[in-house]
Amino acid sequence: MNAILPPGLGPAPVPLIPESAPFSAAQRAWLNGFLAGLYGGAAAAANASPAPPPPPAEEFPWHDPSLDLDERLKLAEGQALPRRLMAAMAQLDCGQCGYVCQSYGEALASGAETSTALCVPGAKATQKALKGLLAEAPAAAPKPAAMPPAAKVGREIRFVAAHRLTGPGSAKDVRHVVLDLADSGLAYEPGDSLSIAAENDPALVEAVLAVLGATEDAALREELARRRDIARPLDRTLDLLAGAARHPPHAGALRALADGEDGAEPGDADLLDLLTAFPSSRPPIADLVTSLPLLKPRLYSIASSPIACPGRVELCVGVVRAERRGRLRDGVASCHLAFRADPSVPLSASVQTSHFRLPSDPATPVLMIGPGTGIAPFRAFLQHREAMGAKGRSWLFFGDQRAATDFLFAEEIGAWQAKGTLSRLSLAWSRDGRDKVYVQHRMAEAAADLWRWLQDGAHLYVCGDASRMAKDVDAALRGIAMSEGGMSADQARDWIVALARQGRYQRDVY
Ligand SMILES: Cc1cc2nc3c(=O)[nH]c(=O)nc-3n(C[C@H](O)[C@H](O)[C@H](O)COP(=O)(O)OP(=O)(O)OC[C@H]3O[C@@H](n4cnc5c(N)ncnc54)[C@H](O)[C@@H]3O)c2cc1C
Ligand SMILES: NC(=O)c1ccc[n+]([C@@H]2O[C@H](COP(=O)([O-])OP(=O)(O)OC[C@H]3O[C@@H](n4cnc5c(N)ncnc54)[C@H](OP(=O)(O)O)[C@@H]3O)[C@@H](O)[C@H]2O)c1
Repeated sequence: MNAILPPGLGPAPVPLIPESAPFSAAQRAWLNGFLAGLYGGAAAAANASPAPPPPPAEEFPWHDPSLDLDERLKLAEGQALPRRLMAAMAQLDCGQCGYVCQSYGEALASGAETSTALCVPGAKATQKALKGLLAEAPAAAPKPAAMPPAAKVGREIRFVAAHRLTGPGSAKDVRHVVLDLADSGLAYEPGDSLSIAAENDPALVEAVLAVLGATEDAALREELARRRDIARPLDRTLDLLAGAARHPPHAGALRALADGEDGAEPGDADLLDLLTAFPSSRPPIADLVTSLPLLKPRLYSIASSPIACPGRVELCVGVVRAERRGRLRDGVASCHLAFRADPSVPLSASVQTSHFRLPSDPATPVLMIGPGTGIAPFRAFLQHREAMGAKGRSWLFFGDQRAATDFLFAEEIGAWQAKGTLSRLSLAWSRDGRDKVYVQHRMAEAAADLWRWLQDGAHLYVCGDASRMAKDVDAALRGIAMSEGGMSADQARDWIVALARQGRYQRDVY
């Protein structure tokens, strides 16, 4: 675990501004970061910009997807309602709600947005917290519905292939998706994400049309296939269905669902579940359709370098498919890409520019932590560094369930190691042995080396699961700062905040 090196053998601890010094927490964190940078050695010094920008005027300490909902709400206590609402969001700025976390909170607080069910990654827990916060607050004057920020106009790109990366017998179906940028004019850099607008499964759309008795309605078919989210009905759809139900037990059950009552059935219902379970509820079709949320594009971390793969963009996509109540529930975009995409039908896509960036100096060491599909941007980084002939050291931490079936991009990673593009590889297989081994266990085992890399100015990147992995990796990093850097828990937290401010700790988590 986090062995403490004997005095004199480890790197000199980074000096820290004492808690008693006359600085605010933000100033202390910034100064600590500055010292960490200075003590980070030549590479860090070379990378440090001469005049670091001042801290932003308003800070959102809860804007961190690896914090628990409770922690986020606590950090926002005493703030104005829009900020407390913002803290209840999943903090991913993923755009699935049609806003980013900050503007969704503002729209709800002002009354311009009335649906609390739009935060997909935050799911029911966020919805419940939003409802609670809004119930406590004095009612806002109702405003006309806000226009969510204009969605980027998608350009037409072409699907090429979706090869399976996981081997036979794997519990997962992960695909290497290759797309042709064609004449789209889209450009990207390693670290960016691709936003894809996929259609609903035509078979599911047909089933909904059949239960509505509207299989002849071509305009409705088009609307349900391309523009409406039929997987996650909003409160307003449930309200509408509850109001239209002619059978009182149906109305009661729908009301319980609309009110988010614990145990209300059918849980996680999609539109087809609701129409099937409550045949006495058939509101006018036009009202039903407009009550449904708009179908949002999905984001994927780009797994290719534009230099290594000119004219193409490649992704690493985990197929979302689960059985519920005897029916397969397919993720819209992942299943479209894996099973239905057709090279002759254009896909609508746009590039989401990211903060997730390789260091400007290719000599700067990079530490990449990306289990599962979190490997995606690191494949892009390694391709890019190979193509650029980057000389800096690189260390990848990867893991998944089993070495035999889940080592994504194993051949390419082996070739990068052989060539020296990848200097060090740490692997964590969670289901091969008796005990779970995760990337953060490998980090702790190599704590002294990892700390030395950071002292040498390494940039550290984390990609993948936000709710568990990114949080545990953050805690492991804090543990390493304490064991190897001799810091207290508070100092380690400040040090991490400062590292992030310097752009040396970046996360792309979902
Ligand atoms: C910045 C960013 C980068 C991302 N990068 C990647 C990436 O590189 N690779 C990647 O695979 N994904 C990535 N994602 C996630 C991706 O955007 C989609 O959310 C994901 O593919 C699911 O979309 P879908 O349309 O297939 O499923 P949806 O239609 O959105 O989901 C269908 C249903 O399945 C449920 N569901 C969702 N996940 C699961 C699950 N794991 N198991 C069971 N049910 C589930 C949902 O709650 C929903 O009810 C990223 C997300 C963000 C925000
Ligand atoms: N937003 C969405 O709609 C969406 C869609 C797809 C995926 N996701 C999420 O994105 C994540 C990535 O999915 P994925 O299938 O590529 O990989 P994953 O589920 O993160 O699994 C990759 C590896 O991480 C391990 N792991 C589990 N808990 C961990 C922890 N606390 N710390 C470190 N490692 C841990 C897993 O082990 P074990 O499983 O053996 O414990 C597995 O070995 C998933 O969590 C998934 O829920 C979200």
